[in-house]
Amino acid sequence: MNMFWEGKDIKNEVEMLALLMKDSRNTVVLTGAGMDTESNIPDFRGKSGWWRNIDPSRVASVQTLQQNYTLFHEFYSMRIELLQDVRPHKGHYILADFEQKGVIKSIATQNVSCLHRQAGSKTVYELHGNIKTIRCNSCNHEAALQDFLDKKNCSICGRNALRPNVVLFGEYLPRDAWSLAERDIRGCDLLIVIGTSLKVHPVNQLPMLATGKVVLINDEDTSSGCKFDLKIIGKAREVLEELTEIYKSA
Ligand code: OAD
Repeated sequence: MNMFWEGKDIKNEVEMLALLMKDSRNTVVLTGAGMDTESNIPDFRGKSGWWRNIDPSRVASVQTLQQNYTLFHEFYSMRIELLQDVRPHKGHYILADFEQKGVIKSIATQNVSCLHRQAGSKTVYELHGNIKTIRCNSCNHEAALQDFLDKKNCSICGRNALRPNVVLFGEYLPRDAWSLAERDIRGCDLLIVIGTSLKVHPVNQLPMLATGKVVLINDEDTSSGCKFDLKIIGKAREVLEELTEIYKSA
């Protein structure tokens, strides 16, 4: 199906996005778990997502950390171990390349996997923290990942309270990451939202703060409650692969 935009004959939505990117002086990306599923990391609310079988408040909350450390430790050790052999996919590298070429300014992500950084992206705001660094929940001192996996006590305060630096239900988002993401999104000409259900507050408010164009790339339509200028229903990796090719020749 051909479309027309500003006098141009456009093949599809991906080409439209490529043109929006060419026009934009300031593009920001917001990602969620759907960005990582093609690297074999399950999402949360997709067809085989974590929260289909597990109640998040039972494992990923401050209450569980404080009252059932064994369950908390079991869940996060399993997730850390799942990430050991995981690598970024082509889509992560494409975003890193866009940043290196000055096409995008920054990535705000809900993902704790560190795959954007692993792919070479430099300006990444980790809104829900990251799972690969550890601290003591009691004295805040940093600890080694292996100490957490070995269920060791904190070497400073001696408490059995090591935890990954992820945001748990009941906790605030990291202030710096949030304010930088908010600043970039408020000031951008184009926000590209990739792979998120937009179910989780406050990140699901970010697209509404954008004053420029807002585009969704997701394998289902998760736009309810938020006005998108363009929706591309498809897999993140495939869409980004097509996008980078079209962008080069646009
Ligand atoms: P969700 O699992 O809620 O949403 C992921 C979305 O991506 C779903 O709409 C999927 O259908 C879609 N999706 C899956 N694979 C895709 C692919 N290859 N290409 C395109 N779309 C795909 O994940 P988030 O919105 O990121 O928070 O979840 C937000 C937060 O909820 C997470 O950061 C986590 C969770 O509880 C905390 O742990 C604090």
